[in-house]
Amino acid sequence: MITTEINGIKKLKSGGEGHVLFIAQTGATKTLAIERFVEEHHKKGHIVVYIESSKANLEAGASAFKPTMQYHLNKLTFQGETPQSKKIKLYHLNSNIPTFKTIPELKIWTMNIKKFDRLLTSFIFENSGETSSISALNTAIERLKKNEGFFDLIVKLKQGNIKEKQDLFSFESKASSINVNTILNFLGRFKDQPIIMPQSFKHNLDIVKILQDQTSYHIFSNRYSNDEKIRDLATLYILNEIRRAKASGKIKKEIIIVLDELKTIAPNNPLYDFQRILNKLLTELLSVCRSLGIRIIGASQIYSDIDSSVRQSFSHIILGRTSALQDLYDIGKIIGLTQYERDDILSLKHNEFYLLSEDVGEKGIWHFHLPKHAHAERNQVFDKQFSETFPERMKNHKDIINEIKKEFKNQELNARQLLYAKKND
Ligand SMILES: Nc1ncnc2c1ncn2[C@@H]1O[C@H](COP(=O)(O)OP(=O)(O)OP(=O)(O)O)[C@@H](O)[C@H]1O
Ligand SMILES: [Mg+2]
Repeated sequence: MITTEINGIKKLKSGGEGHVLFIAQTGATKTLAIERFVEEHHKKGHIVVYIESSKANLEAGASAFKPTMQYHLNKLTFQGETPQSKKIKLYHLNSNIPTFKTIPELKIWTMNIKKFDRLLTSFIFENSGETSSISALNTAIERLKKNEGFFDLIVKLKQGNIKEKQDLFSFESKASSINVNTILNFLGRFKDQPIIMPQSFKHNLDIVKILQDQTSYHIFSNRYSNDEKIRDLATLYILNEIRRAKASGKIKKEIIIVLDELKTIAPNNPLYDFQRILNKLLTELLSVCRSLGIRIIGASQIYSDIDSSVRQSFSHIILGRTSALQDLYDIGKIIGLTQYERDDILSLKHNEFYLLSEDVGEKGIWHFHLPKHAHAERNQVFDKQFSETFPERMKNHKDIINEIKKEFKNQELNARQLLYAKKND
């Protein structure tokens, strides 16, 4: 972390490395602090990505507006800065986007089936072990042609020639038919939603192209999607795509990714099996990201609400005001807080945080400046503000959604015909 002191106020700046986790009770200005922190990185030339939790309802979108709240304007004057706004681009997976009304303009995206690597297939199968069903599926995916998609995969699996005939170590036994059933069960979830498409499909997420635009904030939302597993899959897919783009050297600039409400994707007490596996995969991703120059910013009201290995992937913890004494005590035990430090934390004010960092010498109370752009205040509705500020960017997305649906249906028809033709051979 890099810090400076201005007029006796310590200020956190961009730079340094390692993931940063903000912990504070609701209303303790976590999101505002993150927004400023992100702004500093953006100014330095980093690429900004927000992956919103379903709860957030485009909270990050407020960066497209200039602040109007009195406290915010006063603070900006104190900071010697003027209100500004950011260019934003909104993205949403092709999942339940309303077609009966205009909404803030979205780039609707689908997933490239060829990008389903071990990480994504283990999530779909809710199993991180190297099971035979997962390797069978991975092999089948590898063999798909550019224009073959979800239903072609199903056909290939049903036709059973998953394994190389020449492979001495594969055998077609009863076990393989059990595998296919397991696979079909898990994939069934995607049969009615056009999400997984052939490699050549034009609406697939092109992360390299997206990240080439450093000027705009890239905000990925999943507020319309009502399937929790698909929402988590979308988050994982985006993170994995960013990792790939960075690892391949196609993106040179540093990237900062915000995952506000971290506990929604990395809960400590998961309800579903897929969340348990997601925690493992996220931990793996976080560690790779760190070495690639991708910085993750997370936030949560309670530290212990976040999965323990995910939270341990963060090198810096920034604590705000909290009345969750048990949580404070738990954090204290992990990072060694004294009684005095705990008292300090209990009395933090607006925009004040206590920094606990891997880097020694930076411990203590820090003041955060506010972002120059607006923040989503409780009573404000993003869609309304957006339609007032950018009426020309309100759009009905039904044409593109129908186009994707039609393509998906065609693929299903073709696949059915293929299977039928095979049977009648
Ligand atoms: N300096 C300030 N003076 C007065 N009010 C402030 C100040 N800073 C922040 N606030 C108020 O605090 C509110 C809460 O901030 P913020 O949304 O960042 O909290 P949060 O910690 O992210 O909460 P949650 O956990 O619910 O997401 C702001 O919307 C704003 O109204
Ligand atoms: Mg918040």
